Amino acid sequence: MKPLSEELKEIVGALKMHIEMERLAGGEELLMAGSSEEPPLEALKKEVLSCKGCELYRTRRNVVFGAGNPKAKLMFVGEAPGMEEDLQGVPFVGRAGSLLTKVIESIGLKRKDIYIANVLKCRPPNNRNPLPTEILMCEQYLRKQIEIIKPVVICALGKFAAQTLLRSTVSITRLRGRFYDFQGTKLIPTFHPAYLLRNPHDKRLVWEDMKKIRKILQKN
Ligand code: URA
Repeated sequence: MKPLSEELKEIVGALKMHIEMERLAGGEELLMAGSSEEPPLEALKKEVLSCKGCELYRTRRNVVFGAGNPKAKLMFVGEAPGMEEDLQGVPFVGRAGSLLTKVIESIGLKRKDIYIANVLKCRPPNNRNPLPTEILMCEQYLRKQIEIIKPVVICALGKFAAQTLLRSTVSITRLRGRFYDFQGTKLIPTFHPAYLLRNPHDKRLVWEDMKKIRKILQKN
């Protein structure tokens, strides 16, 4: 019987030969797949899923991190998960979500093409407004998401998303419809789909904003 050290040497030699042959056959990517580092958005998601930075972790059913294409050119930012989102762990899946899907499709895109996140990742009880302290704790995650995704356009849905990202106190009615600079990225505020459910006559203003976004995306 061969000594163990000899056997080990043979195994290592055979492995090296296998790796070299794979490399010559153009298989570097395959060999890298298992050993490469975790994608940054996934790493961030893991961190957020265990967040206890504010009291909302006590009442949440699921953390709603965000969903969609991590390489999206267009990113929507909403306010906070509602009941349905909290149950499913996915943003904009309730009534407002169905309307958002229509808005996205109105400019020839699908939900899988874009990325959707919220200012808060956990549902405020009874869908109350986010508290300033909750926004303060949570917005760092949104900012990191934006940094990783690097969209061409950010569409801020409603007052909380627009005011948080733009560090503004101006009303959504006055903010909407124009592009602002968000750390080198174009950001356009528009009305929140939940507002549109209550005020359907303002859908035409959102349609105007979507056309502006479409124009930018066509050039990029
Ligand atoms: N409203 C939001 O702002 N975000 C959601 O995910 C759902 C409803």
